[in-house]
Amino acid sequence: MIYLDNAATSFPKPSKVYDEVMRCMKNYCSNPGRASHDMAIESSLKVMETRELISDLFNIDNPFNIIFTSNATEALNIGIKGILDKGDHVISTVIEHNSVLRPLKTMSKIGVEVTLIACDKAGFINPLDIKDEIKHNTKAIVINHASNVLGSVQDINTIGKIAKKYGVIFMVDASQSAGCIDIDVKRDNIDLLAFPGHKGLLGPQGTGGLYIGEGLNLKTIKEGGTGSSSNSMNQPIELPDKLESGTLNTPGIAGLCEGVKFIKKIGIANIYKEEMLLIEHLLKELKKLSFVKIYGTKALNNNLSVLSFNIDGVDASRVGEELNEAGIAIRTGYHCAALIHKVIGTEYLGTIRVSPGCFNTSNDIEELVKYLIKIYKSN
Ligand code: ALA
Repeated sequence: MIYLDNAATSFPKPSKVYDEVMRCMKNYCSNPGRASHDMAIESSLKVMETRELISDLFNIDNPFNIIFTSNATEALNIGIKGILDKGDHVISTVIEHNSVLRPLKTMSKIGVEVTLIACDKAGFINPLDIKDEIKHNTKAIVINHASNVLGSVQDINTIGKIAKKYGVIFMVDASQSAGCIDIDVKRDNIDLLAFPGHKGLLGPQGTGGLYIGEGLNLKTIKEGGTGSSSNSMNQPIELPDKLESGTLNTPGIAGLCEGVKFIKKIGIANIYKEEMLLIEHLLKELKKLSFVKIYGTKALNNNLSVLSFNIDGVDASRVGEELNEAGIAIRTGYHCAALIHKVIGTEYLGTIRVSPGCFNTSNDIEELVKYLIKIYKSN
């Protein structure tokens, strides 16, 4: 299969990711932090190694300020619900994924005031619009770094500066960008960074994490065993234990460790360059086809490797089915982003979304375009 659905989850993974998951499962997969036997120690060391590698990737000083989660959605829920209280105001945007929009909707029902900033048709927000909405009770700004529908990348550096100036917590949803674009929590003044392990970081599904800035005191939404202070009924107050109850996904984290090593070896800038060559190739070919309507920017400045479009007269889902029959995997529909479709006029259509990853080739793009033409002609 030609896999072009890396915005949903990356595939394939570097071979060392598969190997380490298997090595962990077969040789040392014990419960990290729960015992002092050799296997438990090896598991703990692997989890720690991964925490350190991710800290280094995002320029985080203290690896214990990263908690592992099962995905970015869980990280976003822990962050959003952990910092917001009744009476607080939070600023976010209409380009968010439902993993931000839905927790915010839930918080609005308990008295959190939510402002959603508009974006343009290319998928960009104006950071000054955020500044204009800050008021006395604004507690946080939650921003989708890169859109899973349009690929637009927001200027988090400017937004981070605004957040810092006004003393507002800055939370970044790096679901699409982690591992694809350089992120530096210090340079970008990020207080909370939610990331999946299974997308750009090339790890297995069931992995993800949340960086929590020094001094931020999040409420827990889950309590339980941590392997520390086990004779107390009170949840530990130190990170990562405070927010990391329950047995971790050690095999997944072991695989993620190799994913991050792969990214460091190749270099984020090189991966980005390769992926952008593929998406630019696709854009160039699609622009030649009069029956294709492309959404978002036509120039790919400040974007990553995600492109949405539709074909005249053929339902997006039908295109997806026919591509699947041709052995090409893409995603169609609304992509779990409830509000952006009204902006781009696809609220009744959804889109065909193509998201090449670092293992795709230009031949994959040519095959896709060939089949898109065929599908249009046969419908
Ligand atoms: N959020 C993922 C996507 O965009 C699953 O497909």
